[in-house]
Amino acid sequence: MTQYDIAILGGGPGGYVAALHAGIKGARVALIERDRVGGTCVTVGCIPSKALLDSSHAYWMTTHGEEHGIVVQGARFDLPRAVARKDGVVKTLVGGIEQLLKARKVDLITGMGTLVSPTQLRVKTKGEAEVTVDAKNVIVATGSNVGVPPIKGLAEAKPLDNVGALSLPAVPRRLVIIGAGVIGLELGTFYGELGSSVTILEMLPQPLAFADPELVRLLVRALQAKGVTVVTGAKVTEVSRKGRAVSVTAEVEGTSRAFEGDEVLLGAGRVPNYSGVEQAGLQTNRLGITVDERMRTNVKGVWAIGDCIGDPRAPKLAHVASTQGEVAVDTIIGEDATMDYDVVPNVVYTHPELAQVGLTEAQAKERYGDTVKVARFPFRASGRALALGETDGVTKLVTAGKDQRIVGVHIAGPQASELIAEATLAMRLEATVEDVIATIHAHPTLAETFREAALVAAGKGIHVAR
Ligand code: NAI
Repeated sequence: MTQYDIAILGGGPGGYVAALHAGIKGARVALIERDRVGGTCVTVGCIPSKALLDSSHAYWMTTHGEEHGIVVQGARFDLPRAVARKDGVVKTLVGGIEQLLKARKVDLITGMGTLVSPTQLRVKTKGEAEVTVDAKNVIVATGSNVGVPPIKGLAEAKPLDNVGALSLPAVPRRLVIIGAGVIGLELGTFYGELGSSVTILEMLPQPLAFADPELVRLLVRALQAKGVTVVTGAKVTEVSRKGRAVSVTAEVEGTSRAFEGDEVLLGAGRVPNYSGVEQAGLQTNRLGITVDERMRTNVKGVWAIGDCIGDPRAPKLAHVASTQGEVAVDTIIGEDATMDYDVVPNVVYTHPELAQVGLTEAQAKERYGDTVKVARFPFRASGRALALGETDGVTKLVTAGKDQRIVGVHIAGPQASELIAEATLAMRLEATVEDVIATIHAHPTLAETFREAALVAAGKGIHVAR
């Protein structure tokens, strides 16, 4: 029987990237996945939602293109076709990952795995046969599940989750969403652009609690124009379904209010999944499996990465899980690698998009005090944004110290998801405002807003009035 160097439980962006990385390094690897490789992100999360959001954006631009000279009569959105395209995108990507695993000589074992000891897994394969996998090291990458808050009537009302909402047969006329987090706002944008009347109920005073409040305000205003209303301070207490309609009750500023919809969507957070590994004696905390910065658990030879871990510094994001996978593998094979969570980009794929890296203004002031400065450059002053006809947006720089080192960048606007990469690299290289100014940017581009914001930070703004 094969003894693997590394067995990985879970084939999401944490697990499959760890498998490929280990394969490249010449390790003998088994990847155990109960479903399709790619996990939540590739099959029912990041990728399919982006495929659909690109469809809804194209539809919105078509039906709101008068200024561009696009006048279309009788345009309609064929949701089943967009869903089929989305399924095709997922299939292509899953197929690509499977090919890569083969090329790296990773053994993909399809079935439900259980960690029976620190060096052994039992896998129930599709035909119910049990396979034993022995490995010197095990990486647990079992992800997360939809969190179901204790709301009266919620389960009986059969709310949509990220899976159901990506495959609806028709666009609901009215959609109520519980939670204005990333999922609520992204799927709210999708259905809003298709013509649904969307109400998002958020218990906190601000949607996207982690994000810059100024940018969130801008986003909420822009979404309002697409038929998406965000109600903050609204704690959902009850959900009931009457025939085809759903009624969602929330406490809003001390009074009970009912919100009616044709569908209700749950976007109230996710919970770590570590079923199947408890018996190995792994220590857990409120957020998931306890790990250190090298992804070691308390059990020697067992590692954990991705959404199933409980480290308050680690955002639960696909690209973080992948990096943790690389760190775990490197540590296993004796290389020096640790996780550093200071420079992690975070993107919300609404339209306009929201992207950030590093500290918010408030966090920077807490850490660096009075040396913190903030500079903004509005997209309406960008020639490229004007040409696009998408001027809702701002690039905001947060700097600290005498040399004005960049400690946070917050972008709302078209293609913010792409623009944040430059800011991320700048922060990684500990760039100052002057470094950014010294970097020539192509004109006309949206990326120029980053340099323009740096110019504003240095008191030398070119395309803004003082
Ligand atoms: P989330 O944690 O982002 O947001 C959940 C929201 O629901 C919070 O604002 C919370 O205050 C609110 N909430 C909870 N219970 C409530 C109640 N009873 N009434 C009203 N509001 C309530 O979680 P979400 O959006 O479900 O996303 C789950 C995970 O998926 C996140 O951790 C995120 O990192 C990841 N994700 C990332 C994406 C990206 O990076 N673009 C896209 C989608 C998901």
